[in-house]
Amino acid sequence: MPLKPKVLVTRDLPGDAISRLRERFQVDLPTPDEEIGHGRLVEHLEDKQGLLCFLTDRIDADVLANAQLLKVISVCAVGFNNVDIKETTRRGIFVTNTPGVLRETTADLTWALLLAAARRIPEGDRMVRSGGFVGWSPSLLLGHDVHGKTLGIVGMGDIGTAVARRAAGFGMRILYHNRNPSPLAAEVGAEMVSLDHLLRDADFVSLHVPLSQSTFHLIGKRELDMMKPTAILINVSRGEVIDEAALVEALKKDRIAGAGLDVFENEPKLAPGLVGLANVVLAPHIGSASFETRERMAKMAVGNLVDGLEGRRPQNLVNPEVFRG
Ligand code: DGY
Repeated sequence: MPLKPKVLVTRDLPGDAISRLRERFQVDLPTPDEEIGHGRLVEHLEDKQGLLCFLTDRIDADVLANAQLLKVISVCAVGFNNVDIKETTRRGIFVTNTPGVLRETTADLTWALLLAAARRIPEGDRMVRSGGFVGWSPSLLLGHDVHGKTLGIVGMGDIGTAVARRAAGFGMRILYHNRNPSPLAAEVGAEMVSLDHLLRDADFVSLHVPLSQSTFHLIGKRELDMMKPTAILINVSRGEVIDEAALVEALKKDRIAGAGLDVFENEPKLAPGLVGLANVVLAPHIGSASFETRERMAKMAVGNLVDGLEGRRPQNLVNPEVFRG
């Protein structure tokens, strides 16, 4: 019997994903207490044809140089900025991701942060728990209305559109900024504007762009200065899209009213001063973290890996130029 191809899965997966992989491949799965850091990744990949990894695994030129047998990298995330795409493509390695299946869950979390920041839910929660709530008061924890306001979406892709769709229930006006006009904009009643226009006009600015050279620090001091003092910034994309030090300054000086962040520039480290601010809601990168979605992502990531290693074109190939079917 021919030997089964070898794959590395850097962390455990929900559902029956690992057993599906074991039916076809020799699976190297580190134990939960065995962190696969950058150095270990290099060692583990020496004899592997497949890799199923996560956004925390940095797959750079050093890792790839030592992974001579590698044919497929299946990233269990929609964002794949952790992989050096140019180098994988040069080496003829397939890279896949898990788009679509986490769209609605991430849009839900966007709204959770937006509402929590606008209505100061974490501050209220802390007050009640610490015994600071001594009775109703007419001026207690006044926040900002959401209904009837203007929502600005930066990056009108899959997730941005799902966020926009939810805004209808709040009777909001929607502005968006995107490289190209979105074919779905009319359906959600969104108007395309420049980034500066959006920043000046929106009451809520929500970021949904992938991380790239052109979106690194897309929101810095200049952009924060353009926003209304009553505006709230939401980020569920990638931390590096915001200059976090500039955001801390803007929040400290009440240049903007608040922020809701699910992602951080140097994750899991936070910019100095961020945790001490009351006008920011912080979540630990849980945009797609629901039981159902994480299972769907795992299933899709396994499907991509199986297809790639069995010579079929994976459904979610991000570097299609590599496939010669
Ligand atoms: C993704 O898929 O890119 C998300 O950030 C994971 O939660």
